[in-house]
Amino acid sequence: MKILNKEFEKTFVNDLEELFLWRRDVKSFSNTTIDQDTLERLMSFACKAPSVGNSQPWRFMLINTLETRQAIFEEFKRENKQAAERYKKETKQEYLKLKLEGLLEAPSHLAVYSETTPLRGKGLGRSTMPETVRYSTVLAIGQLWLHARALGLGLGWVSILNPKNINQILQAPKNWDLIAYLCLGYPKLNSQIPYLEEVNWQSRDGFKEFIIYR
Ligand SMILES: Cc1cc2nc3c(=O)[nH]c(=O)nc-3n(C[C@H](O)[C@H](O)[C@H](O)COP(=O)(O)O)c2cc1C
Repeated sequence: MKILNKEFEKTFVNDLEELFLWRRDVKSFSNTTIDQDTLERLMSFACKAPSVGNSQPWRFMLINTLETRQAIFEEFKRENKQAAERYKKETKQEYLKLKLEGLLEAPSHLAVYSETTPLRGKGLGRSTMPETVRYSTVLAIGQLWLHARALGLGLGWVSILNPKNINQILQAPKNWDLIAYLCLGYPKLNSQIPYLEEVNWQSRDGFKEFIIYR
């Protein structure tokens, strides 16, 4: 095997760390559309993510029709109403004020699926931990999230959706698991502070210390 090496400049590492600080879950988008080349660029690098056994189980579905997006939004509203019922009194009122999606504003919708039993990789690494297939797809999303931010785009993850209903709306193949429903677009604003921290729902703890096993 040919041995190659590549070192990254300090300035790049600093920029990368800045990127981590500026990546946000975005829920408010401008109406500027994302061009096809940019979408394909994002997808091609998301597919460079690590995956168990190199199984590459991710499947990306772009949702372009307005009717389908509207159906997804209706599904969100239904599920969010139910989710609110889990809280009591003031917390419920606080929950209902939160903006937890940007479905109507986002110029691009992306459903991310994971093949349940991909042939690629011949099962390597997953007989002991079958969930690693899904973890692989989540890694591709993490990569996409950061890459999008680097290109000036925002990504918002919407999980207040019933996968069964989404699969039905999108007519997904039976052997695909829904991992994420993502909104993509140019953010209306950028911040280093997560929205849920900003509105006093949940702040970040940050790293405190290792738990040392002796
Ligand atoms: C698996 C997953 C599901 C999420 N689902 C939602 C969601 O349904 N609605 C929402 O507003 N944010 C959702 N988020 C975004 C988180 O709330 C957000 O990442 C967190 O508050 C930290 O903010 P930040 O991403 O801006 O740092 C989700 C994030 C992850 C990783």
